[in-house]
Amino acid sequence: MKKVKVGIVGLGRLGRKHAGNLAFRIPHCELTAVCSVVEEEVQEVMDAWNIPYGYTKYEDMLANPELDAIFIASPSNFHCEQIKQALSLGFHVFSEKPLGLYVEEALDVETAVKAHPDQVFMLGFMRRYDRSYMAAKEKIEAGIIGKPFLIRCYGLDPASKMDSFLTFARANYSGGLFLDMSIHDFDLARWYLGEEAKEVWAIGGSYARPEFDEIEDAETGAAMVRFENNAIGIFVAGRNCAHGYHIETEIIGTKGTLRIGTVPERNQVVIMKDEGVIQECVDGFLERFEQAYLSETEEFINCILDKRKPAITVKDGVQSTILGYSCKKSFETGRLIQVKT
Ligand code: NAI
Repeated sequence: MKKVKVGIVGLGRLGRKHAGNLAFRIPHCELTAVCSVVEEEVQEVMDAWNIPYGYTKYEDMLANPELDAIFIASPSNFHCEQIKQALSLGFHVFSEKPLGLYVEEALDVETAVKAHPDQVFMLGFMRRYDRSYMAAKEKIEAGIIGKPFLIRCYGLDPASKMDSFLTFARANYSGGLFLDMSIHDFDLARWYLGEEAKEVWAIGGSYARPEFDEIEDAETGAAMVRFENNAIGIFVAGRNCAHGYHIETEIIGTKGTLRIGTVPERNQVVIMKDEGVIQECVDGFLERFEQAYLSETEEFINCILDKRKPAITVKDGVQSTILGYSCKKSFETGRLIQVKT
């Protein structure tokens, strides 16, 4: 079988993980080219993994005639433009979330994806490929909890990463707490409830680190969302989680409740000693979602080979961006915002 030749842009925290998966863990896939604005990163990956082509300019990578697909793991403000460029040159495209930081640019990408119906486009909502989140979806569809009417999501980053986040956020615009972090939860809520958001009220603040006020962002925030069918969404996002990386989701239905990740344990080891009974916590997204990152990438490659489309569509990216942006607007204005789709 022919191998899908992939070029990746972005070799940072997540790009490096994706690159490793593409290079070594997926059959019928070859990591043919890598690109980053940081030359040392490019050279390091090329040397370490024997990658034939390396670039510091995205446009140069797109000119490589050997490539079939482009994998985008660059900072969020580049996604829209890089997706459109790659699609227009005939590539299949995978992009990390969020689709866009502004609604207009997300809609622009939707138009571009629709204009290239024979190319695969996939967005990195990897939680949909996590075994536990998939099992929950199957149970909801089987009617185990009746009709779901409330979803409560926690997305909390480790306090230990706050300094590096603040350094990053001072130099880069990532969309703010809701667009950057809650976007996965918004997608899950739409997926599980099968409904679009109607209105939102979001609040937040800086509690341990006043620096978040200076960058006009929240250290921790909460959004309450009413969905079209009157279902309820409660979304908590934060960057100051003392015990580690905590992603938790609860779906309440008319006949029962599902919870995923209530205790964000690293493994099944329980430590019992003078301090008490301890379960260690996962320390970040790479550890918690390792299987999901691999599975979503496998799905992207399989879609290209099987000439089919992934279940996640560009519309999922647009709708979650619209909701994220509405939360941001509500947080900034203090008002209840109607989510306009
Ligand atoms: P990072 O800052 O660690 O890495 C960014 C990479 O892109 C670096 O290699 C940098 O040199 C490169 N780069 C920057 N500007 C570029 C340009 N114009 N052209 C080419 N390369 C460029 O960022 P991180 O944390 O890896 O995030 C990357 C993306 O992945 C973001 O959009 C973020 O929202 C998303 N992300 C998604 C997660 C998920 O769970 N699905 C988790 C973490 C990040």
